[in-house]
Amino acid sequence: MAFFWSFSSVPLLGLLSLFLTTLQPSSSAAAHLTTTSIRFRKPSTTADVPVFREAPAFRNGETCGSSTVDRIHVAMTLDASYLRGTMAAVLSVLQHSTCPENVVFHFLYVRNEPQVFSSIKSTFPYLNFKTYRFDATRVLSLISKSIRQALDQPLNYARIYIADILPANIKRLIYLDSDLVMVDDIAKLWGFDLNDKVLAAPEYCRANFTNYFTDAFWSDPVLSRTFERRKPCYFNTGVMVVDMDKWRKGKYTRKVEYWMVVQKQKRMYQLGSLPPFLLVLAGNIKPVHHRWNQHGLGGDNIEGKCRSLHPGPISLLHWSGKGKPWLRLDSRKPCNVDHLWAPYDLYRPSRHFFEE
Ligand SMILES: *[C@@H]1O[C@H](CO)[C@@H](O)[C@H](O)[C@H]1NC(C)=O
Repeated sequence: MAFFWSFSSVPLLGLLSLFLTTLQPSSSAAAHLTTTSIRFRKPSTTADVPVFREAPAFRNGETCGSSTVDRIHVAMTLDASYLRGTMAAVLSVLQHSTCPENVVFHFLYVRNEPQVFSSIKSTFPYLNFKTYRFDATRVLSLISKSIRQALDQPLNYARIYIADILPANIKRLIYLDSDLVMVDDIAKLWGFDLNDKVLAAPEYCRANFTNYFTDAFWSDPVLSRTFERRKPCYFNTGVMVVDMDKWRKGKYTRKVEYWMVVQKQKRMYQLGSLPPFLLVLAGNIKPVHHRWNQHGLGGDNIEGKCRSLHPGPISLLHWSGKGKPWLRLDSRKPCNVDHLWAPYDLYRPSRHFFEE
C-alpha cells in the first residue's frame, strides 16, 4: 500500500505550519494565528476520532485492467470532524465500482492527526491511498468570512491547490466532497469526455446566477463585466472532474486566487471557496448529467432544513448545505433523505451506548 507524506516545497512555510498544526492553541505561535479572522478547531484528542468497523475487501471484476492507465484517481479532504462522512463516501465508491482495486484515493489534510490516518487504514485495510499535507498558510490570508463558519476552514480551499500538490503524472482527477455517497460506478464519471475543457461538473442553468454575487459586484462597472461573452451557470465544486494538465498549464490556481484577493477588498460574494471557481470557470465547463450531483440534501446554509430528492436518475447523493446526515441521524431527527446515507455509515458507536 502506498502511503507517503508530502512536504511543502517552501521549507520555511512548511516548517511554520508544521508547528501550527502540532502546537496547542494556547501556545504563542497559535495565539498569533488567532489574530487573523480564521480560527483553527481545537486539536483533536483520541476521544474525538470515532471508531469504525472494518469494511469488506472489494475485488476487481474479471474485465478490469491492472496497469497504471486503468487507475481512477480520486481526491478528498481528510480531517477528524468529517471522518464519518469520508468513510461513507469511500465505501460507497468501492461498493459500486466494477473495478474497485483500480481506484486510488488522494487525501489532503491540514493537521497531522495520526489517529485519522490509522483509522482509514484499519477501516479499509486494502485501500489504495496516499496522504498529502495541504499547507494552510498558503490560503489563510486569502480566506474571507462566509455565511457559514464551516465553509471558512482552510481545508475547504485545498481543492484549488490540488494540481500543485498531487504528482505531475496524475493527468485526470475526480474531486469529491466528504458529505456525499456514490451510488453508481465511478468509472462512468471518470471516462467522461472533457473535450477542450479543464473541468467537468453538473451545471445548473436554471438557478438564478445573480444571487451568488452581491450588489457590490453587479453594480461595479468593471467587475460586472466578468461574465461578458460567457453564459455563466452555477456549478457545485463538490463533484468535479479535472484535467490536471490543463489546470496546471492554464495556471488556474493563480486565477482562482486572484479573485480571492479581489474579494478581500470588495465583498463580491458570501459563500466560501465556490464563488471564485464560478468567477473563473462558470460558463466554460463541460456539463455533466445532473445525476452525478444531487446536491443540497443538507438543506440551506442557514438552517439546514429537510429537502426531498429532485426527480430523475441518481448516481451521487450530496448533503451540501448545513445539515449533515450523520449529525441528523444521531440527533434522532433525521430527514427522509438521510436514510439513504445510513447504509454507508461504518461508524461503530461505543459499547456502553447499548448497555443499560
Ligand atoms: C434573479 O435574481 C435577481 C435578484 O434577486 C432578480 O432581480 C432577477 O429578476 C432574478 N432573475 C430571474 C430570471 O428570476
